[in-house]
Amino acid sequence: MHNIGDDSTTAARCHVCDAPLSEFVDFGKQPLSDAFVRPDGIRDEFFFRLAVGFCPECTMVQLMDEVPRERMFNAEYPYLSSGSAVMREHFRDTAREFLGTELNRSNPFIVELGCNDGAMLATIADAGVRHLGMEPCSGVAELARGKGIQVRSEFFEYGSALDIREGYGPADVIYAANTLCHIPYMDSILRGVDALLADDGVFVFEDPYFADILERTSFDQIYDEHFFFFSARSVRELSRRHGLELVDVRRLHVHGGEVRYTLARTGRRVARPSVAELIEQEWLAGVADPGTLDRFRGHVETVRSELRDTLEDLHDRGKRVVGYGATAKSATVVNYCGIGTEWVPFVCDSTPAKQGKLMPGSHIPVQAPEEFGRPFPDYALLFAWNHAEEIMANEREFRTGGGQWLLYVPRVHLR
Ligand code: SAH
Ligand code: TYD
Ligand code: ZN
Repeated sequence: MHNIGDDSTTAARCHVCDAPLSEFVDFGKQPLSDAFVRPDGIRDEFFFRLAVGFCPECTMVQLMDEVPRERMFNAEYPYLSSGSAVMREHFRDTAREFLGTELNRSNPFIVELGCNDGAMLATIADAGVRHLGMEPCSGVAELARGKGIQVRSEFFEYGSALDIREGYGPADVIYAANTLCHIPYMDSILRGVDALLADDGVFVFEDPYFADILERTSFDQIYDEHFFFFSARSVRELSRRHGLELVDVRRLHVHGGEVRYTLARTGRRVARPSVAELIEQEWLAGVADPGTLDRFRGHVETVRSELRDTLEDLHDRGKRVVGYGATAKSATVVNYCGIGTEWVPFVCDSTPAKQGKLMPGSHIPVQAPEEFGRPFPDYALLFAWNHAEEIMANEREFRTGGGQWLLYVPRVHLR
């Protein structure tokens, strides 16, 4: 069933409990989602096999193959947390909430894993609160420093956690947004959390919610950087194995559906009813049932054929289609669905480091959003569907001029 034969992957084991994984969807050979290619020297792109497995022991959903971290997270990493007004607001609100709750004590200290350009920590730094951002990508780390934020350009793991503990003392809050799911070496991370967290501190992280991915068939959340796909149940299992307890969960609307998980040391906090409630909902939705996972694969295949048929039809009818948002997520859609420049000649994106480059694998050129209206296309394929409201508001003239947005979540449709 694998597109590229690699026998070593058949023995993939759970990165949480070491049980053998059961594969349920395979996207074949895929490039690195954030490795935008320079047109003047199409280098040897790195490809890996993108397939997802389920752990029958601890229920954690995860990739079957692991990409070496330095290939993904390095000085060239283009993604900017502050690239969306909605996300800037989300992180400002998150910081304010921490300031008013967990950090409302004497001389508090917060550590953020994957602080990126400092969208969250900027508010913490402005409030004069002790903090440290851990951000291995030196380019984006430098942007955070420019906002007055303390950053170490290093990977967080057990060794660096010990170092931080020695230099700063215990952390009242350890926070990670869209970062924990990027880290296969979970054991090292949680030993690091154990070493760094204050006795009554909290480890808070938010990541795409697997139940939302199933419900919306948002298979584009599956790419090299997203190694784990969390549910409340799998996070509870994970916590238990590390002397931690899942004490709160909150559903978030950002990035197409996420959950914010709060972990504390076992017995230090009373778990809120939200935890049992969400786990109950997951039972009812069959989030960990093999039948659900098989149906998901079927839905993915349907979206692929509908999207291909739609783009082919538009092309045959002489319609102009432009992509919008050169997201990491789009790498899986474009390459798995076989979308190339014939159907989508370019993609607009506001990120400076992506503009003038080619999308990984497909080599569709990325241009500045200013190119979108020169002139407007007939249809715009919205790869950044999680930012639909913001983008559609910014590009209002496109629709008033007769243009239509083409989306593929939860199914292929026009807006
Ligand atoms: N928190 C930001 C950025 C998410 S992108 C947001 O939500 O918008 C994921 C980030 O995780 C990248 O900036 C990457 O460099 C960082 N990252 C990956 N592995 C990490 C590790 N071991 N420790 C700290 N950051 C890491
Ligand atoms: P995003 O969906 O946040 O994440 P990922 O890359 O992990 O899938 O990426 C949004 C992309 O869309 C990012 O490259 C910036 C771009 N973008 C625009 O071009 N214009 C906009 O108005 C917004 C909000 C985003
Ligand atoms: Zn497991």
